[in-house]
Amino acid sequence: MLLRIERREVRIGMYVEEVEGAWIDIPLWFRSRRIDDAATLAKMRDSRVASLLIDLDKGIGPVGDMGSPRGRATLPAPHSALLHADVAKAQQTLRRTNSAMRGIVASIRGGGSVDPALARAVVDEVAVAMRHRPRALLGITRLKSKDEYTFLHSVAVCALMTHFGRFLRLDPDVVQQLGLAGLLHDIGKVLLPTEILGKAGTLSEEEALIVRAHPTEGFRMLQRQDVPDLVRDVCLHHHERMDGGGYPDGLAGDQLSQAVRIAAICDVYDAVTSVRPYKEAWSAKTAYSRMWRWEGHFDPVLLGRFFVSIGVTNRTTRPPSA
Ligand SMILES: [Fe+2]
Repeated sequence: MLLRIERREVRIGMYVEEVEGAWIDIPLWFRSRRIDDAATLAKMRDSRVASLLIDLDKGIGPVGDMGSPRGRATLPAPHSALLHADVAKAQQTLRRTNSAMRGIVASIRGGGSVDPALARAVVDEVAVAMRHRPRALLGITRLKSKDEYTFLHSVAVCALMTHFGRFLRLDPDVVQQLGLAGLLHDIGKVLLPTEILGKAGTLSEEEALIVRAHPTEGFRMLQRQDVPDLVRDVCLHHHERMDGGGYPDGLAGDQLSQAVRIAAICDVYDAVTSVRPYKEAWSAKTAYSRMWRWEGHFDPVLLGRFFVSIGVTNRTTRPPSA
């Protein structure tokens, strides 16, 4: 029999069957297990999971319950696949996607044409992985080394944009285009010198200007490619803001397409929750409350629905904490 408990209630002797929370807050090391030692207990308590499901037939219950589920709702057994199997599959997806992406980037960079079938296959592969194992996929892409940052960020934004597009019940063709836009939104960064791209500290004024040119550079590169207009639009405008304070064109409100608004949210969400050696990675919950405080940046209707789509909250309106 399963019982849902809070993280602080976990103790030695319990059998934890499943953990719950926003996808990226579920630790990749998690396995169904009995808590047998202090180290595992501490790891579980220090994690960011929202709650745990314990199996009362295999271990003890919370303090005061004496193993009985009295007064608490018990739950049906979880049917989610084991996370470690999902992680292995998500890693395979990333290996295949990585080599295909290298080919696509090399073509665009060299002035050649991107094979539309190959691009579609990459988007489909990421979208399918996101549909079947979102926790594993986002858990892996969240950990970004310097060398792989742009690749993993592009895959994560592709995954989030297709997921969000499906959640919004957009036309499947549009969802495909959103995925390609996610993959290619930062394509202009391939022209950036590696010392600027990988710089850990604050950029100089001159360096910042070079970085801020990546949407226009990417747009220029994509003008020679047979890609949908939506993809070029996202590439050029993903750093625009609803209040007109973004770049490169300072567009505002209705001038920003729905695709651009979706991209702006997914792009920032992945960036702020990414684990990098030199900065604090926000949890999904932190991103939720802080992104709401970025006044004028995002479309508030879409922002509310985005956080519902990734399982952080049930409410689509501004949280009281923001
Ligand atoms: Fe960008």
